[in-house]
Amino acid sequence: MTTKLSRRSLLEGMLLIGAAGCAAPEAAAAAGDGAKAPADAWQRVRDEFEVSPAWIHMTCFYLTSHPRPVREAIEALRRELDENPVDAVHEHEDTTAVREAAAEYMGAQADEIALTDSTTMGLASLYLGLPLKAGDEVLTTTHDHYAMHESLRLAAERSGATVRKVALYERGSAATEAEMAGAIERAITPATRVVAITWVHSSTGVKTPVRAIAEVVARANQGRAPEDRVVCGVDGVHGFGVEDATMADLGCDFFAAGCHKWIFGPRGTGVLWGKAELWPLLRPSIPHFGKEAYEAWLQGQPPPPTNANMMTPGGFHSFEHRWALPAAFAFHRRMGKAKVADRIHALNRQCKEGLEGMRHVTLHTPLDDALSAGIIAFEVAGMTPEAAVARLRESKIIASTSPYRSSYARVAPSLLNDEAEVEAVLRAIRELA
Ligand SMILES: Cc1ncc(COP(=O)(O)O)c(C=O)c1O
Repeated sequence: MTTKLSRRSLLEGMLLIGAAGCAAPEAAAAAGDGAKAPADAWQRVRDEFEVSPAWIHMTCFYLTSHPRPVREAIEALRRELDENPVDAVHEHEDTTAVREAAAEYMGAQADEIALTDSTTMGLASLYLGLPLKAGDEVLTTTHDHYAMHESLRLAAERSGATVRKVALYERGSAATEAEMAGAIERAITPATRVVAITWVHSSTGVKTPVRAIAEVVARANQGRAPEDRVVCGVDGVHGFGVEDATMADLGCDFFAAGCHKWIFGPRGTGVLWGKAELWPLLRPSIPHFGKEAYEAWLQGQPPPPTNANMMTPGGFHSFEHRWALPAAFAFHRRMGKAKVADRIHALNRQCKEGLEGMRHVTLHTPLDDALSAGIIAFEVAGMTPEAAVARLRESKIIASTSPYRSSYARVAPSLLNDEAEVEAVLRAIRELA
């Protein structure tokens, strides 16, 4: 009974998005691929969120507000768990449906995906799980997030490997694909075992050429013995839910992302994707509660070779959030990946073009769609990032500062915003002169 309820609610959620985002697919069918969704369709998407209308929210990339279908799915599952926790766990313990929903969105296979609670958990599971040893080198960049750098530091500390950080660009706004891929190519040595990069830097808003860097890694791997191969791992969180790309398009080996930012998934959810043949390389740090490892333990046997599912950390979780994740992927599917990318890029372009024309503003994010996504980093002359963000709050705009050694003010126009809000943000920043 309760299970039926939750399924019905999930289905209703999906149909509601059909009503909400989906003048869009009809318009696309009429006008061909890449057609823009009409503005009122985006308004109906915005109506699915309960963010306070007292504020202009330019920080969706930080932590999502749950859209209605996700809220309803969580609520139905919470009720099911509260009514009968044991039966609910037995009913849903096979997470294939969750991994299938993620796989469909990512253009991947369910058995290539581990479920995590965050980007951080995915990165740490990956890098602490790799068979690094003394003498190995891990190559990363100076632009990555704390979660990446610390996962690598911890992995190196335990294994005796070393971490090397290189800059991909000097000025984010002037970064080029060739410069970024070239920096990685020049830095790979015979000792390199990992190239760890970030798809979209939350420090500068620069989108890195993951495909080109993966090709650099593939060239470096030519002729190497399997145990010497370089693994290319990506922190994908700020491209995931923004860009219209599959895992095959990106070409990397592993991809970690939280689902509680641009994907609009339940808070405390994430995925770690990897190429099928590479999972046996990894060793879980936290025991998985699935059949593979548990059966072996019951029989006093060693666990089988690691697969993706076995990299899903075990123990009990905030299950209603994890199981409700398909509602978020359904929400994106109904809006259409290409249209989502088009919309976010259009709002960001409007914002960056406005900022570029302000003499008191230094833009750190490239204008080029190919080199940027949904985050805009900037400085206001004579003002700390904190002061600029505080002044924007006086205009009821929530912006943020980047938590990096070189810190900038950030705004992130998203599906929660519209053109008028972007104009209001530009007006407020203009007044900071
Ligand atoms: C680039 C990047 N990676 C990782 C994280 C951490 O994400 P999570 O909270 O999903 O662990 C952040 C935080 O926003 C980030 O900006």
